[in-house]
Amino acid sequence: MSAIPPPALGVPRVHLRSTSSTNDRARELALAGAPHGTLVTASAQSAGRGRGGRVWSAPRGSSLLASLLLRSPPRLLPLIAPLAVCEVAGADARIKWPNDVVVVRGEDLLKLAGILIEGRPQEAWAVLGIGLNAAVALSELPQELQGSAATLGLHEDEIEPLLARLLSAIARRLAEPPPATLAAWRALDALRGRAVAWSRGSGRADGIDGDGRLVVVRDDGGRATLDAGEVHLEHSNVR
Ligand code: BTN
Repeated sequence: MSAIPPPALGVPRVHLRSTSSTNDRARELALAGAPHGTLVTASAQSAGRGRGGRVWSAPRGSSLLASLLLRSPPRLLPLIAPLAVCEVAGADARIKWPNDVVVVRGEDLLKLAGILIEGRPQEAWAVLGIGLNAAVALSELPQELQGSAATLGLHEDEIEPLLARLLSAIARRLAEPPPATLAAWRALDALRGRAVAWSRGSGRADGIDGDGRLVVVRDDGGRATLDAGEVHLEHSNVR
């Protein structure tokens, strides 16, 4: 008897020339009963957003802007998503907890991609929003981001094939057992060993626990575990 393959990701798909936020459109589709794997992409967003209410800026046509609806998302989705992005972003890509994808340049972590997961856990769905600087010219980003961003430097024609590879990588990661996800994430951890400060203390990042929380060794020698939803990290030597 052959195993039933998992449902395809990216089907159905809506592509918009412009929208406020692909996460908003995917959320509407989720509430209207759209199936697992539904994808919304856009060439431009007028109100792209990131975690903590921050703005996500992307020049028209040069960024991968995608929101994927997942029904019954796994507990480790916040780890799975940046891992999949790293897989398609090349050997230099690393993860800055909780789920930024960055390139390490000395002491600096330059942001290549951001991930925003929104949804209704009680209804068992999530929208996985990904913004990846695929073909972005850094000079076209707002001035204040230019020193802290990175780009893959692709041609705009390469965004669509990149998206196809990304969807395959997400599908593979969704099917793997949690210990494999945790091990792969830890191998790409850009924050480990770095000084971090958060609202109630400071210390050194020491990896993640089995639920994806950040473990830190505090300056007083004690250990703390930080939840992405609860803390706002201020990186003393990390942009
Ligand atoms: C972050 O870095 O804080 C997360 C950024 C997430 C940006 C993507 S772009 C596609 C999707 N639509 C949005 O409005 N946000 C996400």
